[in-house]
Amino acid sequence: MPITYRPITMDEFDQFDLAVVRGFSAHPDSNPAFKDYARRVLEPENSVVAFDGDDIVGTSSSVSFDISVPGVPAVPIGGITEVTVAPTHRRRGILTQMMRRQLDAHHERDIPIAALWASESVIYGRFGYGMAVTHEHREIDLRHTSFAHSPDIRGQVHFIAKEDAQKVFSPIYDQVRGQFPGMIRRDDLGWEAGITDFNGLRDRKPDLFYAYYEVDGVPTGYVMYRIRHSITAGDATNSVQIHEIVAANDEASAALWRFCFDIDLASTLSVGHGAPIDDGLNWMLADPRRLKRSSYDGLWLRLIDVPAALSARTYSEEGSLAIRVEDSFCDWNDGVWRLDGGIEGADCIATNDTADISMSAADLAAIYLGGTKPSEIARSGRVSESSPGALDRADRMFASPRKPWNIVDF
Ligand SMILES: CC(C)(COP(=O)(O)OP(=O)(O)OC[C@H]1O[C@@H](n2cnc3c(N)ncnc32)[C@H](O)[C@@H]1OP(=O)(O)O)[C@@H](O)C(=O)NCCC(=O)NCCS
Repeated sequence: MPITYRPITMDEFDQFDLAVVRGFSAHPDSNPAFKDYARRVLEPENSVVAFDGDDIVGTSSSVSFDISVPGVPAVPIGGITEVTVAPTHRRRGILTQMMRRQLDAHHERDIPIAALWASESVIYGRFGYGMAVTHEHREIDLRHTSFAHSPDIRGQVHFIAKEDAQKVFSPIYDQVRGQFPGMIRRDDLGWEAGITDFNGLRDRKPDLFYAYYEVDGVPTGYVMYRIRHSITAGDATNSVQIHEIVAANDEASAALWRFCFDIDLASTLSVGHGAPIDDGLNWMLADPRRLKRSSYDGLWLRLIDVPAALSARTYSEEGSLAIRVEDSFCDWNDGVWRLDGGIEGADCIATNDTADISMSAADLAAIYLGGTKPSEIARSGRVSESSPGALDRADRMFASPRKPWNIVDF
């Protein structure tokens, strides 16, 4: 029987959810709270689902988000999620067909960018997605967390109840969102997801603690963390796991790290994409080698409409570049684009000019938020320069003062 593709209706949610859960090798009904959240976040009209007869054998959906890009706090994106193909139907091209339909649908809706978290880094490059945000898993033995110098910590950390956290945390998050490219705007459901940590619930992690740092009555940073309890030969050897640490300024950042490092009865602390990688933590520490770091890819971006995406951000330096974009999956992007950009904004139009630099749509997506320099990718042979100095110019134009960061799981 041929596979057919269409969006689902809300009435089909249970069947859809069962397919998603199975696709990730979990068991149905193992977590009702997560299922309820999945139901509320689903935009059924933006799903692309594969059917073999009446059976769902492939799932994908898209959630409407706004993301910060350099110089601009909110650009609409499709957040691609719930991507699975039934183990009984894999490697027959079903994902490829869903991606085709999904990108076409976003293009028709004038959504310039799609974003996703990839379960494996080998999957999405072929569809024109590039690694745009890099995170670090960091871990430290809490006996080695003295600061190298004493930062000015004038304020106080306070605990706050879960139900009151959004009110205090959201203005801080919104302030920080403007500083980093890659951050997703949170509405009420987004806050519920962040504060409840539905993924943590699904994985049966311990409950979170909520705290914020305040100076002169003004909250300037917050932390959500959990403690994984353990006792070794009578001694508490708990681990502190940071869910989010968000600071509007350096003082709040230092204060919140100090607070977390000084939690008693714990022996280690770990953090992943809950903190930005350029927060200077290793520079705060007197013994920085103790901070063990390993990087991993976070958000992957797909520039669905190259000229719209390139003109949606600002550029660190005034300049002009003719960029040859190779894009066989979304061939409307394939060609040479003239980008004129600067700190005030940008224009991007098709041109017959000779290209200054050439790259794939995936690599353009990888440099888009300013996290990776074009010249770094060029060293791998994937980006090429045909007019001398163009790569240097591209490095300077695409640069971002802060490294991209995204805290939102979807
Ligand atoms: C990832 C997944 C959706 C792929 O679905 P699929 O229908 O088998 O993919 P396709 O048949 O369209 O594959 C397209 C190409 O990608 C390759 N590919 C797909 N998934 C791959 C994987 N996990 N590892 C390596 N290659 C993969 C295929 O080999 C194929 O290559 P080819 O064009 O050279 O033949 C499916 O394996 C799955 O459901 N995995 C578990 C859940 C998951 O990880 N989902 C992704 C969440 S982000």
